[in-house]
Amino acid sequence: KKIAVFASGNGSNFQAILDQVKLGAVDAEIGFVFCDKLKAGVIERAKSANIPVFSFVQKDFENKAQFEEEILTHLRDHQIDFVILAGYMRLIGDTLLQAYENKIVNIHPSLLPAFPGKDAIGQAYRAGVKVTGVTVHYVDAGMDTGPIIAQQAVEVAYGDTEDMIAEKIHKVEHLLYPKVIQELVSK
Ligand code: GRF
Repeated sequence: KKIAVFASGNGSNFQAILDQVKLGAVDAEIGFVFCDKLKAGVIERAKSANIPVFSFVQKDFENKAQFEEEILTHLRDHQIDFVILAGYMRLIGDTLLQAYENKIVNIHPSLLPAFPGKDAIGQAYRAGVKVTGVTVHYVDAGMDTGPIIAQQAVEVAYGDTEDMIAEKIHKVEHLLYPKVIQELVSK
């Protein structure tokens, strides 16, 4: 199977997936990375792994549909089976949702439906929860609302700073996401 990874930032989840692909633990090919920013850590990570990168910004298109048509052209050219969102900071629109129905997944750093949207780790920290975690879910038109595929809890210890929680969360993400992707592609 072929996957495309969509990311907007650092790309540590992309890196974790790539590492497991290289090890053969994820039985998929990463066809390309799409980044909706012209500068982002993920672009350098993909380039140094010789994975094609497309980066363009939505505001250079007339509307979201046209922006997504351009993405769709690349998905079709590369015969992509699954779209993996990894820190992609944009809602997916009808164009992609219809073309890739039940084939788009996302990872979110909280136990959804708690703390959807931006800064989920900060939201959890400020709420003072003692358990938060990571969710992998199918993507629908909402913000972090699609059917849940997998979740893993992360405990917040007394005295944990926001950075300490973030570190624990990211460690879990980097293990959980490749595992879920492997299940997805091997179905
Ligand atoms: C992760 O915490 C992910 O759950 C969220 O965005 C962050 C991306 O981090 N959706 P990275 O770019 O993969 O390092």
